[in-house]
Amino acid sequence: MFADEVNSRHEKNWPSRVSAEGEEIGGGGSERKDIEKMNKELPRFDVPGQVALVTGAARGLGRSCALALAEAGADVALGLRDVSSGGDLTKEIQATGRRALPVQMDVTRRDQIEEAIAKVKTHFGHLDILVNNAGLGYSDLAENVREEDFDHTLAVNLKGTFFASQAAGKLMIRQKRGRIINMSSQAALVALPTESVYCMTKAGISHLTKCLAVEWGKHNITVNAVAPTFITTPGTEEALSDDAFRADVLSRIVLGRIGKPSDVAGVVVFLASPAAALITGATILVDGGWTAR
Ligand SMILES: NC(=O)c1ccc[n+]([C@@H]2O[C@H](COP(=O)([O-])OP(=O)(O)OC[C@H]3O[C@@H](n4cnc5c(N)ncnc54)[C@H](OP(=O)(O)O)[C@@H]3O)[C@@H](O)[C@H]2O)c1
Repeated sequence: MFADEVNSRHEKNWPSRVSAEGEEIGGGGSERKDIEKMNKELPRFDVPGQVALVTGAARGLGRSCALALAEAGADVALGLRDVSSGGDLTKEIQATGRRALPVQMDVTRRDQIEEAIAKVKTHFGHLDILVNNAGLGYSDLAENVREEDFDHTLAVNLKGTFFASQAAGKLMIRQKRGRIINMSSQAALVALPTESVYCMTKAGISHLTKCLAVEWGKHNITVNAVAPTFITTPGTEEALSDDAFRADVLSRIVLGRIGKPSDVAGVVVFLASPAAALITGATILVDGGWTAR
């Protein structure tokens, strides 16, 4: 039995006659025993036996999330823009004792999204966790943004996230359980100069997260987002190699360091785990305090 199922059974067992403060109102011995059992229950932060699909898994945060989910006990499907681009990732996942399945999944292509999800279902039998990680941005002043860059950013970040969620959501609705975790950004909340289109898409992802959470809660599907600050990945390497830019970034991060992929992957695993069963519609900042100022 999956941990989510165990949790939802526990949730259903919560007696109906409990006051707003959580005190039992009347009820027999079995209700009291249920309450005692719940009060002794410890949170679980792993995902044994679950199946995860991570988009944009070839490198950076996607790669780190895929490995972290495998370490936490999940079999992992690797959604790859080019199915041959995963390098040693399949072997690294297998070394943790879990199964890995690279799938061709350019998230701008609905046909590839549908085929990838169908392949995951055929191979593993179910899909419990979707991490919508694939994303990109172009740096340009708003007055210079090219239409093709605008369209491509929206196609990957927004349309890709929406239709990957839709395809996985249909499966999760039938399964009556699922976790969707979207890669937003602190850029959803603060304006980053020369990143207007990227910021707009990340704000859209955080709002989509709420919309899907509200629609799919009744199907026992949680939908959350993670909003990182600057993290060292191939995607930020060039920008962070500029000394003035790096110094500016560091001056804004209260904790005084650029993030590591594991800072983000840890939160993704948490949101996929039974410990996060009552969290939905949330965007969790991993910003070292940038937005707290
Ligand atoms: N790093 C940060 O500072 C940071 C901060 C906040 C949010 N984020 C978000 O975190 C996510 C990952 O960022 P990252 O820094 O790891 O980026 P990255 O190093 O550039 O990696 C992005 C990955 O997404 C894939 N991708 C791009 N277009 C795709 C498409 N059409 N279909 C499928 N995959 C596609 C890339 O595939 P290829 O390898 O084939 O190009 C690559 O593997 C993004 O959504 C980003 O916006 C990153």
